[in-house]
Amino acid sequence: MERSNVKELLQCESFLQAVHVKGWVRTFRGNRFIALNDGSTINNIQCVVDFENTDENILKRITTGAAVSITGTLVESQGKGQRVEINVTNLDILGDSSSEEYPIQPKKHSFEFLRKNAHLRVRTNTFSAVMRVRSALSFAVHQYFQQNGFFYVNTPIITGSDAEGAGEMFKVTNFDINKAPVDENEDIDYSQDFFGKETNLTVSGQLEAETYAMALGKVYTFGPTFRAENSNTTRHLAEFWMIEPEVAFNDLDANMDLSEDFIKHVLKYVLENCQDDLNFLNDRLINEDKTKPQAERSDMSLLEKLHFVVDNNFKRVSYTEAIDILRNSKPNKKKKFKFPINEWGADLQSEHERFLVEKHFKCPVILFDYPANIKAFYMRLNEDGKTVRAMDVLFPGIGEMVGGSQREERLDVLKQKMAELDIEEKEMWWYLDTRKFGTAVHSGFGLGFERLVLFTTGMGNIRDVIPFPRTPQNADF
Ligand code: 4AD
Ligand code: MG
Repeated sequence: MERSNVKELLQCESFLQAVHVKGWVRTFRGNRFIALNDGSTINNIQCVVDFENTDENILKRITTGAAVSITGTLVESQGKGQRVEINVTNLDILGDSSSEEYPIQPKKHSFEFLRKNAHLRVRTNTFSAVMRVRSALSFAVHQYFQQNGFFYVNTPIITGSDAEGAGEMFKVTNFDINKAPVDENEDIDYSQDFFGKETNLTVSGQLEAETYAMALGKVYTFGPTFRAENSNTTRHLAEFWMIEPEVAFNDLDANMDLSEDFIKHVLKYVLENCQDDLNFLNDRLINEDKTKPQAERSDMSLLEKLHFVVDNNFKRVSYTEAIDILRNSKPNKKKKFKFPINEWGADLQSEHERFLVEKHFKCPVILFDYPANIKAFYMRLNEDGKTVRAMDVLFPGIGEMVGGSQREERLDVLKQKMAELDIEEKEMWWYLDTRKFGTAVHSGFGLGFERLVLFTTGMGNIRDVIPFPRTPQNADF
């Protein structure tokens, strides 16, 4: 008999048909009711075992976590809480799960405990919901770009350029590091290494994506990026996935429009396609909120927040305006900021970003036109000579979701900036070529995929929205 999945069966309208399903036992109550889950949906299907006619040895092996194969009849449920159930006619144990040892018991586990069992945590409701939403979001990412005439580009993971300056890089080498050859200055001689030069894991595909935008017009990358910064926060990973569109002839305004339209599209997609999972995550957050003191509770539920972002314009504010707001803000005057804002030019810390989005504007904010000296070399210099066409999209509860800019397309200005920052032209010859041959205004941004998943699912720690997180001191699994 053909096998159905639980999601199909739960929606099925025709009763009394014979059905076949395989999955894992979530709970087994009263030697009679199996809650069966196969991952296709957050919901379980109830399978009713005729215990009088079932071998006692089989009954004993129906334990939490066991894999089973069931055939039976789909009937309207007698019990509360489900529309359909299966009257089991045959049950085979496919894989036992020793109940004493199985870490994922049908009770509440802490996220810390589950992180140590990252290979099993996706068997819980919360993590399966998060990972299904993550999957839907990544589909929506491709859908948005493909529907809008973008081409998907795979930029290299191993890179010989480190000009981005986005963070510390991980070295790639096949030297035996205890016996790495050295040159006459006792420096490691990378000319003998695999690639004949120093190489690293990429921190961003932007620079390579720019070269493709100058031929294909609209491109995007969606791939892993690596940063060896020692930031042990709930917002940083050492390995994360980044989405980077790059568009020829777009200026910064068009870039802001793109980021806003893109984010709204993917959120709308999951609101329409992940209702069961989002409802579950919404309730999870409401329950978690109840355990917090009143002041820390959120004034919107997860679903309200998602709808709010989809339905409202992001607020666009220049860095200079933001500094004025921050300088005159209550926490600044009362010296509540760890990094007080005294003057124009200060780099914004996450406490400032969060004040702006969570307390002041109470909506996503796009900050633009930052001081040149706190931003990367490739951002386009404004006429004022001191700010660049940079933009950061800031989200409530998250802080920076997107970082992007209009790129410096003028060869002379770009070269001067590189000279100021000691970035060698001969390392970046290929990047400079794009400015030599048919240069044009162009813009792009990077969105940290896990920060998007974090916002969408309402989870509190970025380690809980990627299957196997890599963070300082942690690369298990
Ligand atoms: O702001 P960033 O460093 O921008 C760039 O790398 C540009 N080259 C992007 C571009 O213009 N194409 O990083 C982009 C985004 C951040 O806004 C943040 O969402 C995410 O990447 N991000 C991280 N996410 C998780 N863990 C980390 N350690 C992250 N660092 C950055
Ligand atoms: Mg940034």
